[in-house]
Amino acid sequence: MEQSEGRKLILFPLPFQGHINPMLELANILHSKGFSIAIIHTNFNSLNPSTRNPYFTYHSIPVDLTETEVSLKDFTVLLSILNAKCVEPFRECLAGLLSDKDPIACLISDPLFDFTGSVAESFKLPRIMLSTGGAASFAVYAAFPLLKEKGYLPIQDSRLEEPVMELSPIKFKDLPMMPNCDPEDFYQLITNVANEPKASHGFICNTFEDLEGHALATIHQEYYPNIPIFSLGPFHKCGPTTSSSSTSLLAQDQRCISWLNTQAPKSVAYVSFGSVAKIDQAKFLEIAWGLANSGQPFLWGIRPGLVEELDWLKVLPNGFLEALNERAHIVKWSPQKEVLAHPTVGVFWTHCGWNSILESICEGVPMICTPCFSEQMVNARYVSDVWKVGLQLEHGIGRGEVERTIRRLMVEKEGEEIKKGALKLMEKANLCLKEGGSSYQSLDGLVKHILSL
Ligand code: UDX
Repeated sequence: MEQSEGRKLILFPLPFQGHINPMLELANILHSKGFSIAIIHTNFNSLNPSTRNPYFTYHSIPVDLTETEVSLKDFTVLLSILNAKCVEPFRECLAGLLSDKDPIACLISDPLFDFTGSVAESFKLPRIMLSTGGAASFAVYAAFPLLKEKGYLPIQDSRLEEPVMELSPIKFKDLPMMPNCDPEDFYQLITNVANEPKASHGFICNTFEDLEGHALATIHQEYYPNIPIFSLGPFHKCGPTTSSSSTSLLAQDQRCISWLNTQAPKSVAYVSFGSVAKIDQAKFLEIAWGLANSGQPFLWGIRPGLVEELDWLKVLPNGFLEALNERAHIVKWSPQKEVLAHPTVGVFWTHCGWNSILESICEGVPMICTPCFSEQMVNARYVSDVWKVGLQLEHGIGRGEVERTIRRLMVEKEGEEIKKGALKLMEKANLCLKEGGSSYQSLDGLVKHILSL
């Protein structure tokens, strides 16, 4: 019997897709190590009961957001409402779980849930933090006070193309920001997040040494020398294989896999901007023309709400899709991991959410980057300039540049090096999970650490 057998862990994901996926993947990994798992979740964006893991217990807290709150453009305000609504229900739920007979080893929570530290503390329950983004972007968050001291923040338009010397190869335009947010509120949010590890019993990152060893060392040495850091990613390849639909808030349209089956190897451009990003109608039209003019087949994820203020079909000229015939396939929401693993997918045009990047790296699929907000610009800079597994649309979304970039990557010689680089990185991602690999060892370290709490 493993030492962890019977020890319970409580995990509390932030109720957004990009945060739910890694938290539940981590739950799977720790369950496979013998822990029993309790998930606390909000009614808002509640997990689909029919696809839940039968071995976990789920504890819903009565927290919902109104339509007006959900449609708030300022994410810092939305988040503070969510946090305020969660505190008491979370405290009650935790109290209930702690009164059970099973011993609880610790709470694992998201740093954007800023109250979980003090609530856990009040019960003397150790808390470990899961950062759902990458280590490089977290290092940028941690540098925010320094950036402010140097006068770099708020970001000045005149400096956008300049490098930030202290954070090479990051440029000013890559620094995290959120559209529609007050810069001071955003600064506060980021500094709060960056302070979270200091008040925790450990810091888990969904990344791996060969990808972000340098950033992991910076985080550890410069910012959190006393906090154990565990990098056991990529999570989705680390635990027992489960269907990705199990954590999806939207139904995944499997029909696109049949369409992919009809395409030539590595010929398809897959396009998705994740679960949150929005684009305006003008950009949507440029994407559509750029894809059409590239000559490549494409699978395009157009989630409800992606295009601001209008039904996207009304944005396209009459007969646009019909003229493309079988070359275009549109879905609302794809089974993304399966799509990226499909042999006919040759490139992923992504908004550079951290999960999307890891999923692409694990399948050796080169990327085209259109970062939209938050830490995505940092992620994109690493994809193009550090790991060299993709290209950025540096000058915004214009149909000519879209067409050229797809062809540069998929058809022209320039793309060959990037494709090779993507395959090499994929191998490294696979190796770190094998026995003796860095993530394998880090997972062992995490299990021992939890048992020692
Ligand atoms: C958000 C932030 O944008 C991101 O920067 C942060 O790192 C995590 O939270 P999101 O924008 O949704 O997440 O992007 P991403 O991190 O890529 O997560 C999206 C998830 O949804 C991925 O796991 C992806 O596989 C899944 N997905 C996406 C689908 O299952 N189907 C789709 O059609 C699109």
